[in-house]
Amino acid sequence: MPTIHIDPARKIAPVDPRIYSGFTEHMGRCIYGGLYEPGNTTKPELVDERGYRKDVLAVLKELKVPVVRYPGGNFVSTYRWQDGVGPKELRPRRPELAWLTEESNQFGTDEFIAWCRELGAEPYLCLNMGTGTLEDALGWLEYCNSSANTHYANLRRENGHAEPYGVKYWALGNEVWGPWQVGQMSAGDYAKTAFQWAKALRLLDPSIKLVSCGETGFSDWDRVVLKTLAPVVDYHSIHLYTQSKGSHDMNVMGPAAAEKGIEISKSLIDLALIEHGLSKEITVCFDEWNVWDPIRAPGEKGAEEHYDLSDALAVASWLNVFIRKADVVKFACIAQSVNVISPIITSPSGLFKQTTFYPLWLFSNLMQGTALDVYVSSEEDDDDFYAGETEPLFIAKLAKHTPQGRKPTRWLDVSAVLSPDGREIRIAIVNRHATKSFSVPLAIALPPIATSEVTIHEVYHPDLAARNGWDGDKVQVATRAEVLSENAKSVVELKEHSQLFIEHA
Ligand code: AHR
Repeated sequence: MPTIHIDPARKIAPVDPRIYSGFTEHMGRCIYGGLYEPGNTTKPELVDERGYRKDVLAVLKELKVPVVRYPGGNFVSTYRWQDGVGPKELRPRRPELAWLTEESNQFGTDEFIAWCRELGAEPYLCLNMGTGTLEDALGWLEYCNSSANTHYANLRRENGHAEPYGVKYWALGNEVWGPWQVGQMSAGDYAKTAFQWAKALRLLDPSIKLVSCGETGFSDWDRVVLKTLAPVVDYHSIHLYTQSKGSHDMNVMGPAAAEKGIEISKSLIDLALIEHGLSKEITVCFDEWNVWDPIRAPGEKGAEEHYDLSDALAVASWLNVFIRKADVVKFACIAQSVNVISPIITSPSGLFKQTTFYPLWLFSNLMQGTALDVYVSSEEDDDDFYAGETEPLFIAKLAKHTPQGRKPTRWLDVSAVLSPDGREIRIAIVNRHATKSFSVPLAIALPPIATSEVTIHEVYHPDLAARNGWDGDKVQVATRAEVLSENAKSVVELKEHSQLFIEHA
């Protein structure tokens, strides 16, 4: 029988709350008809005087989203930020080349910043390294952050915003390696250009944090880019979407690829820092992650995934990865936050929470504090190991054959934290097996407070294909209190295809 071992003395690193960040792109109904819907005549009371959807803000507040990335994504690579500021009636409509639509520019920088303030989140802006020039990028930074008596700072003031916005996070382009990207570059060309951009941006505002455009974390692009940009960036961004291709096993095992990508990124960062003789810190910003099958939900159609319970378990496994890698991943943005591959779906008359909302909500509310090392032990004949493949994510195969005596993928996926006050252990367990339940002994060494009372939060539905929708939330969180044995050794019952959170106080 597998046993989960947790020792509160074995701390990994503080969990950075920014791993629960969001992403809003001008794509499909994320902005227009999602978080921004002026003139909603179906239910005008849902919209405030600035056009922001109040229900969307309320639900994102439940998720405690600390930072939001904007305006893309692929969209950014032909975006002219100048079009999206100033009087709305003067803003030009433009062809939009990422999703082949038209951009009205009725929502731009000022609207986004004000929306972030309303949400209580920090803005994170991605620069256009496709059609955009360094001059455009410097202009945008000046518009947002400068208190000088200069053109773009004055334009911001003319537009009604006297104080600088102080946007801290800036990304040097989006997926510049991708053939779908306007302005695709080779790794060498990108690194050379981005280095010069970084230098100039920092001259204008030395306080900003810069994010290099990485790939998956396990590519040569990442190696080349880090080698050049290590001296000038603070974070290395990686992107990955996992998908089921019709197989639940592949769906829930996919995040193993992200875990491996993070480990490899960490080594590439170390290597680059060593090569440059630098002692600074560079960490991973996983600024696009989620379950997304572009065949199931095509990008050009706005990628409105309708998630089921299997997808929710995959999202829970993704979040377990970020907790286990808390020493490397200091920033992660679910892609995306509204309608587009999102945990919430809106219509003019309301919204519903997808299955994936619930693990995200549990994690962002409970899995804060300090990440703890978790060890799951097994006997030879235990059947808690997943033996199948997760192709085409070949990297997950690697995860099964790492040194240190193999690290096989298992059905049980676990992470744990010590709460911010150091008094509670919180454990997130995903039973990824479609049909098998497990009785798992929990062995906690010297809990901070020896009590046998726990609160259990469970995400479960008998039907793995269950979805939430306008007719209600089939998949949500059920919470119960339980009393475990005095010596903090207890058996946890895990239903098939379920997620369990244990708050052990
Ligand atoms: O999030 C959807 C798209 O996926 C983003 O625009 C792009 O960066 C990625 O390929």
